[in-house]
Amino acid sequence: MKKGIIFISGRGSNMESILKESRNGILKGLLEIPLVFSNNPQAPGLKIAEENGIKTAAISSRGKSREIFDKEVIQEIEKYLPDYIILAGYMRILSPEFIRKYQGKIINIHPADTRLHQGLNGYKWAFENGLPETKITVHFVDEGLDTGEIIGLEKVDLSGVESLEEVEKRGLATEHRFYPEMLKKIITNQS
Ligand code: GAR
Repeated sequence: MKKGIIFISGRGSNMESILKESRNGILKGLLEIPLVFSNNPQAPGLKIAEENGIKTAAISSRGKSREIFDKEVIQEIEKYLPDYIILAGYMRILSPEFIRKYQGKIINIHPADTRLHQGLNGYKWAFENGLPETKITVHFVDEGLDTGEIIGLEKVDLSGVESLEEVEKRGLATEHRFYPEMLKKIITNQS
């Protein structure tokens, strides 16, 4: 069984779906979550993790340099000896030191095709450009912004959408199914 620490900054809906799949779904017996970590002590997702009986830790990143903050994060998480760092709406860029320490073990979900749109607001970008479909990317994290090796891409049909909320709704439903599937792919290819 592999150990994955989930990193969140806010709502935590992807985290919730990974917890669910690891408990009773496609990740059962493959992935356990010893900790959910947040850089935002007020993240609503922390409460959801606790309600699910998962240990949580939060360290505020506010006002700290990437290097100093990430050193504190490493101190907090390294005792769990994670096989994976699973970013799920973690809105803080990782320092090169952190990325090197967990090289090849950091995974992210991005609400767009990372080859076409990097950074924030992937759904807004798709909506404002009137795209007939967009893609969700699951990828390894390297030192660039959304430039790491792509593990998988999944289409989201946007035909007929009239609002950004509708784009987000369709996109998130896809994310919740697709992220656990890609985690399963990574874990089973490696073991
Ligand atoms: C998700 O749409 C995720 O793809 C996105 O943030 C949202 C988090 O929602 N991530 C990024 O934009 C990373 N650049 P959640 O907290 O409910 O999982």
